[in-house]
Amino acid sequence: METYCSTFITGFSSVIKDALREKLKELDISLVLDGLIVYQTNYPIEKVKNLRFINNSYILIKAFQKNNPDIKQLINKLSACNELKDFLNKHEFPKKSTFRIIISRENQIISVDSQIIKPLERTITRNSPLRSTRSDPGCEFWLLTHIEGFSFFGLRITPTVKKHLAKGQLRPEIAHILCLISEPDENDIFLDPFCGSGAIPIERTYFPHKRILAGDIDPKYAKQLRQKIKKHAHKLTIGRWDALQLKTFKDKSVDKIVTDPPWGLYRAKNLNLNKFYNNMLNEFNRILKPNRGIIVVLTAQKRVFKKCLDEHRNNLRLIEKYNTLVSGKKACVYKLLKI
Ligand SMILES: C[S@@+](CC[C@H](N)C(=O)[O-])C[C@H]1O[C@@H](n2cnc3c(N)ncnc32)[C@H](O)[C@@H]1O
Repeated sequence: METYCSTFITGFSSVIKDALREKLKELDISLVLDGLIVYQTNYPIEKVKNLRFINNSYILIKAFQKNNPDIKQLINKLSACNELKDFLNKHEFPKKSTFRIIISRENQIISVDSQIIKPLERTITRNSPLRSTRSDPGCEFWLLTHIEGFSFFGLRITPTVKKHLAKGQLRPEIAHILCLISEPDENDIFLDPFCGSGAIPIERTYFPHKRILAGDIDPKYAKQLRQKIKKHAHKLTIGRWDALQLKTFKDKSVDKIVTDPPWGLYRAKNLNLNKFYNNMLNEFNRILKPNRGIIVVLTAQKRVFKKCLDEHRNNLRLIEKYNTLVSGKKACVYKLLKI
């Protein structure tokens, strides 16, 4: 069995554990920290590489327990450790390939004096066909230190492709996690009524469904999304609407609503958010199927949303909430059940 270490968005440990168990059936989880999980599996590496709810995955070479020393001491220990030499000798690297070492302290990539990294580079070049480079390497070794005191050294297996995101667009990983929280089902009629660039409905196409509907009040999004999703077009219906009056939807006609409504922070600064969220929940309550309908909402406006939820407690039950960070901003995901 290969041991992997994968990083994910803060706050979602329980969701990630369940999703990994579902995706990689032969799985042994050995450690779960906030934002990082260590596990063993026999599943093909391609499966691990392509987990859409994961930020990055690494073949784990060496882990250091709590109370780790500083970066320099860690690098010296790594340079001399047998686990690294054994890994380099057994792993098949392409001939004439190159590598780079990346140091990440608590999720931030940091620069470290090249003299400190030298011993580790030397161990790698002596025990493999790899050559060191600073730019455009064939592979990357990462040293990750975690806030809870653990450190991990591994070979990154997720591709380094840069994901281009439009302004305000959610990262696919969080959009995928939001869909997971909604308990996707093949019979779902799924709706994102504030779809913007469409991160959530696009991610939902990776799960079985009956219909996916997405729309926004701003006409430019519907147009852009129609172009972007050509390959998903047969699965997605795109509309333009005011999500506070979803007239095209009949009462009790939708199974799941997963959405990221305005937070009233940037463009919509003058919005009366209390009224907006109240009207939104009224409309969601009307169109959802009772005892089955699930709402998953992402917002940074926890106080306002909580107050609105209290007013809807006879119709919507709070099942779970997850505190997280979106672009460095504190936010929360609420999972509600329509009673
Ligand atoms: C936070 S953004 C959603 C971003 C989206 N999740 C993405 O990945 O691009 C909120 C969206 O709600 C839309 N919006 C604002 N008021 C609306 C309304 N009353 N009805 C429908 N959409 C609305 C905005 O145009 C914006 O695209």
